[in-house]
Amino acid sequence: MAAFALKINGTTHTVDVDPDTPLLWAIRDGAGLMGTKYGCGVAQCGACTVYVAGQPVRSCSLPVSAIGNDEVTTIEGLGSKEAAAVQKAWVALDVPQCGYCQSGQVMSATALLAANPKPTDQDIDLAMTGNICRCATYVRIRAAIHQAAKSLEG
Ligand code: FES
Ligand code: FES
Repeated sequence: MAAFALKINGTTHTVDVDPDTPLLWAIRDGAGLMGTKYGCGVAQCGACTVYVAGQPVRSCSLPVSAIGNDEVTTIEGLGSKEAAAVQKAWVALDVPQCGYCQSGQVMSATALLAANPKPTDQDIDLAMTGNICRCATYVRIRAAIHQAAKSLEG
């Protein structure tokens, strides 16, 4: 066991865990932020997506000892204009079904729009391919990303 001071959404959380503990559990059990979900545990589904130093990562497969001083952003800490546009479009198009995968979907969609303000269908499919939705909301996800991109124009 060791103590790790993690910067999550602008607040430092000290967690006392084994260095191999996945970041996901430090976020959920250590910081008490439950928006980031456990799906597969092997970096294949995207439910656990957060940002580390602004880049999307699979928190289920990243040891807490690898984070250092990098800022961690979870769904609770999203605050960019892209995030606001994505969340608005998600609500307008009623994207979620059961909702379980959706925080990961929103994290990935927001990262896509920050990097590429006008994504094509192909860009979206490529960027979102690692985010699995068992309810198959893919058509609405794609439409909502286009709608969010349009709302950010100008
Ligand atoms: S739970 Fe992390 S990718 Fe599936
Ligand atoms: S909305 Fe149910 S798994 Fe995606």
